Amino acid sequence: MTNQTSPRKMTQAPSPEGPHAGYMPGFGNDFETEALPGALPQGMNSPQKCNYGLYGEQLSGTAFTAPSHQNERTWCYRIRPSVKHSHRYEKIDLPYWKSAPNVVPDVTSLGQYRWDPVPHSDTPLTWLTGMRTMTTAGDVNTQVGMATHIYLVTESMEDEYFFSADSEMLVVPQEGRLRFSTELGIIDIAPQEIAIIPRGLVYRVEVLEGPARGFVCENYGQKFELPGRGPIGANCMANPRDFKTPVAAFEDREVPSTVTIKWCGQFHETKIGQSPLDVVAWHGNYAPLKYDLSTYCPVGAILFDHPDPSIFTVLTAPSGQEGTANIDFVLFRERWMVAEDTFRPPWYHKNIMSELMGNIYGQYDAKPKGFIPGGVSLHNMMLPHGPDKNAFEGASNADLKAEKLDNTMSFMFETRFPQHLTAFAGKEAPLQDDYIDCWTDMEKKFDGTPGKK
Ligand SMILES: [Fe+2]
Repeated sequence: MTNQTSPRKMTQAPSPEGPHAGYMPGFGNDFETEALPGALPQGMNSPQKCNYGLYGEQLSGTAFTAPSHQNERTWCYRIRPSVKHSHRYEKIDLPYWKSAPNVVPDVTSLGQYRWDPVPHSDTPLTWLTGMRTMTTAGDVNTQVGMATHIYLVTESMEDEYFFSADSEMLVVPQEGRLRFSTELGIIDIAPQEIAIIPRGLVYRVEVLEGPARGFVCENYGQKFELPGRGPIGANCMANPRDFKTPVAAFEDREVPSTVTIKWCGQFHETKIGQSPLDVVAWHGNYAPLKYDLSTYCPVGAILFDHPDPSIFTVLTAPSGQEGTANIDFVLFRERWMVAEDTFRPPWYHKNIMSELMGNIYGQYDAKPKGFIPGGVSLHNMMLPHGPDKNAFEGASNADLKAEKLDNTMSFMFETRFPQHLTAFAGKEAPLQDDYIDCWTDMEKKFDGTPGKK
């Protein structure tokens, strides 16, 4: 059933109509799905001969010996084994996509920084050529830390495929719609949604509506998981059923194709004669997923004070030190503010974690001006920050009735490691030189008078 002239359309497994059409709900579930009936072996993984003449192959996302509750792998039944989608490698250069360690001698990472949205260029850019690294942290070779990127994508990948051996990719769109056609199925995302593409999974990215801009957290370390809720209990925050993994989809397309691989911070190309997206059926718990951020159920203060922002954690990637994340992905979205006799915006602080924020839409309460949709800010390890003067004065004098923070969605990629600016972030991206001045006018109010507020 080879099909050399088929249009670029994948054959997808049937799925029910409705909110989950094309996807299977759940986080970290053991899924099974087949795009052709009977393609998935039942009761075993490696039959002597697979149906349809498929090859069985395991994709291991964790070491074979990882503890059961962390062990992730998926069995794929595919037209060709992956070794047929890999040949000699040739090193290529993607100059704007950097990996840690990447300390640029003449760029100062120590500082509180903010950028306007990185503008689109006139040059057509794909998912690969349009990736602009802002910061790196840790070390890609020892699989600790992360990188943050902004993507600017106007062109679909055409018979081009990619996988990162270095990282899982957390994708946060801000503008435009993208399709991730992966070995394990199709994920479409738009602003207000996120996607996670696991390490090692082959995919191509198509533009459904452009230009597309957004943010990526490239996680070199242990995979993202749902944070423990502790005394919050079994519900709220990110609920597992709201995550969606695609049903199986494949294409049988025999045309000259290129696979680009990110491996130890370097990029390599290999030429093959067919699409590698040829997994007809699969089962397992190592798979891509998407999540609608509007389903995130925030929990917060209902009488006084302001909990730590960790209360808004959507996903966390452990570092090996308990409670200290390699990365936390934190969401600041629409919510009610009701606390009494309380300074309601985020408080002033210094943090051992380093915080990169992005604005998806609307106005962020600690920085009503200047932090605009598509923009980024960085408050690096142990550098003080907090509301600007206007936010402080406004919140200190506000009539504290119940107030809805509406039309607001910002996020944070927070890591235990210091973030180093790339040359692009320090020299080319639209850095707001006056950001540090947002605290300059803060007044001394103390004059020694008891009881003065
Ligand atoms: Fe902070």
